[in-house]
Amino acid sequence: MKRHLLTLLFALTVLLPATADEGMWLPSLVSDRMKEMRKKGFRLTTEDIYSINRASMKDAVVLFGGFCTGEIVSTEGLVLTNHHCGYDAIQFHSSVEHDYLTHGFWARNRQEELPNEGLFVRILVRMEDVTDRIASGETAGAIIEAAQREGKGYRASIEQMYYGNQQFLFVYQQFDDVRLVGAPPSSIGKFGGDTDNWIWPRHTGDFSLFRIYANADNEPAAYSPENKPYQPKRHFRVSTQGIEEGDFTMIYGFPGNTQQYITSDAVKYVQHRSDPMKIDLRTRRLDIIGAAQEADPKVRIQYAAKHANIANAWKKWQGEVMGLQRLNTIAKKEAYEARFRAWAADKPEYRHLLDSLSAAYAATADWYCMEELKNETLRTIELATLAGRTVAALKLDPKSERRAEAFKAIEGLYKDYDATVDRALTQCVLQGFTDYCPEEAYPTSLRELMAAQGGTIEGYTDHLYTHSRFTSLEAAKQATIEELEQDPAYALYKVVRNTQGRLPRNLSNVKAIERWYRPYLKALMEFDPQRAFFPDANMTLRVSYGAIAGYEYADGEYHIPHTTIDGIIAKDNPAIYDYDIPQSLRDLYASKEYGRWAIEMNGKTTVPVCFLATNHTTGGNSGSPVLNGRGELIGINFDRTWRSTMSDIDFDPTLCRNIAVDIRYVLMVIDRVGGAGYLVEEMLR
Ligand code: ARG
Ligand code: GLU
Repeated sequence: MKRHLLTLLFALTVLLPATADEGMWLPSLVSDRMKEMRKKGFRLTTEDIYSINRASMKDAVVLFGGFCTGEIVSTEGLVLTNHHCGYDAIQFHSSVEHDYLTHGFWARNRQEELPNEGLFVRILVRMEDVTDRIASGETAGAIIEAAQREGKGYRASIEQMYYGNQQFLFVYQQFDDVRLVGAPPSSIGKFGGDTDNWIWPRHTGDFSLFRIYANADNEPAAYSPENKPYQPKRHFRVSTQGIEEGDFTMIYGFPGNTQQYITSDAVKYVQHRSDPMKIDLRTRRLDIIGAAQEADPKVRIQYAAKHANIANAWKKWQGEVMGLQRLNTIAKKEAYEARFRAWAADKPEYRHLLDSLSAAYAATADWYCMEELKNETLRTIELATLAGRTVAALKLDPKSERRAEAFKAIEGLYKDYDATVDRALTQCVLQGFTDYCPEEAYPTSLRELMAAQGGTIEGYTDHLYTHSRFTSLEAAKQATIEELEQDPAYALYKVVRNTQGRLPRNLSNVKAIERWYRPYLKALMEFDPQRAFFPDANMTLRVSYGAIAGYEYADGEYHIPHTTIDGIIAKDNPAIYDYDIPQSLRDLYASKEYGRWAIEMNGKTTVPVCFLATNHTTGGNSGSPVLNGRGELIGINFDRTWRSTMSDIDFDPTLCRNIAVDIRYVLMVIDRVGGAGYLVEEMLR
C-alpha cells in the first residue's frame, strides 16, 4: 500500500506539467527564485544571470530602441529582435526600387549593413538598490549624474519599485550606431498580419537582425564608417537541439507595464469602463478604415500601419476584459480586501488605506477617463494634427535643417493620408466623443466650433473638409501662413491639441492615487508574507521563468504548444494579403530540402515554426530571448495569446501563454530563404 502510494506520488510529480510561476523578477534579486527555477530545470546559477564581477547573461540582453528587447548572438555584436520591432528601420530603407518590406533584406557583407539614425540599444551595466541612499538625503539627480560619469555612453535612471517603496538605480551603456543586417520578407516576418495577431496557432517568422557598432576602443560612438562591430562581454549561444513540452524556459527582457496589486476599484475601472469604451471607439474607426481598404487598394497600403496600430491594443483589451471576467478578478480582489481590512482594523497606520484608495479613485476616475476618451477621439483627428504641424514648421527658420526635416515628416504623413477616409474618421470620433462625454464636461470651445456650422457634427465636418486647405499638402503650400492660421482645421487643432501633457500610464499611477499605494504595498507585504511579491513591470530588465506548455481553453479544446511549416502551407493563399507567402518558401516545402533544419514529427519531415510557453510577459518583451535550462537561445518572444492578456493584472498559469518563434525556423529562413548562411555560421560559431 505504502509503496503504491509512493509510486503514485512519484508519478504525479513527474506527470504534472511544470506550471509557470507568475512573476517578472529583478535580475539582481533572482537568487530568491533560484530554488524554484532549478526545480523546474534551470541548470545555471544566479551569477550566470546577473553579475557585476564577470560576464553574465545580462550583458547579452539589450533594450532595443527604447520599446522592445533584443539579444546579442555573436562575438561581433549581431542582435536578434522581432520584425515588428525593426519595422520602422526596414520601412525607412525601403523604396519602390528596394522594397525590403516586401522582398526582405540581407546585407551580404559589413559594407552593406545599413545605419539607422536615432536607433539605439542599451546594455545594463549594473543595478543598485538606492532606497537607503535617497532616504539618507542623497538626491536622485546627484546619484544619476555620478553614475553617468562612470563610463562612455553611460545613461542612468532611478526607477520606482512597489510604487516607490524601493528605488533602483539602473546604469546602462548606450550604443547609437546600430545597423540593419537582415529582415525576412513581410510575408514571413508579419505572416498572418492582423488576422493572426494575438492568436494561436501562429506561424509568424517575427524576427530581424541588427549589428551594434563601436569605436576602435569598443566603446559607444555616433555613426562613423570607421566604427567596428561591437565585441560584447557575452553573447547567447543558439541551441538547435530542439525542444519539448515541459522543458524549462526563461525570458530575459524589458516588460513595459503591469498592475498586479491594484484594488478591485481599479479593476472595475479597467473592465467595466475604460476597456469597453476604448474597444467600442476603436471598433467604429476600424470599421471605417477596413471598408475603405477593401474598396481601394491604395488606401489598403496607406492605412495598413494605422489599422495595425489601432487593432493591436483593441484586440488585447478584448482579451483582457474576457480574462478578467473569466478569472473573476474583481470578486477575488474584494474577498482579499475584506481579509486585509479585518487584519488592518487594529493598525492605525493601515486601517484607512482601502478607504483612502477608494476615495482617491472616486475623485480621479472621471478625469482620467476623459483624458482616455480624448486620446481615443479628438486627439486622433489627423487633419488637426497636419494643420498644427504644418503651421509650426512654417514658423521655423526657412533655411534651417529643422524646417526641412519637419516638412519631410509632414510629407510622409500626407503620403499615407486620404481626405475622404479622414473625413469619415473625424465625423466618427466627434460622434464617439459626444456619446461618451457628459453634458457638463463638454468643451465649450468645441461646442462653439460646431454651433457656427449649424450645431450638428455632420454639418461641422462637412464645412471643415470643404473649406480646409490642409486636406492636401499642395493646397496648404499655396496658402500664406496668415491664411493657414485662419483655417478651420487649425481652429480645431487649437481646440483638441494635447494640453494635458503625458497621461500617467494607468489610472492607478495618477499621483493622487499612487501615494496611497506606497503604504498599501508595504502593508500587503506584512499582511501576506507568503506571497511572492515582484515589482510591476516598468521597462526595467526582468527575468521570468516557466515551461513550454499547451493549454486547454475550453473543455476538449487543447492547443498543442508548437506549429510547423505545414501549417504555413495550409494557410498559404495568394489571394489573401496576410497569407501570401514568398514563392521560395512554397518551393522549399515542395522539395522538402530543409537541409539541417528538418525534423521528423508524427512521421513527417517538417520544420518547427512557433511555440508556446508559460512565461509571464507583457508589451516590451517583444524580441526577448527565450532560453533553455542551459541559458541557450531556443526562440524569440513576440506575442501572447489574446486570451492571456489579463495577465497584466491577473496571471493564470493554466491559461496565460506567451508566443515565440522557434530559433530553428529563424535560422532556416536566414539560410534557405535569405541565402545568408554566413549569418547562420556567425551565430553557430
Ligand atoms: N501583438 C504583438 C505586440 O503587441 C505584435 C504586434 C505587431 N503585429 C501586428 N500584426 N500588428 O506587439
Ligand atoms: N507584441 C508585444 C510587444 O511588442 C508582446 C506581446 C505582449 O505580451 O503584450 O512587446
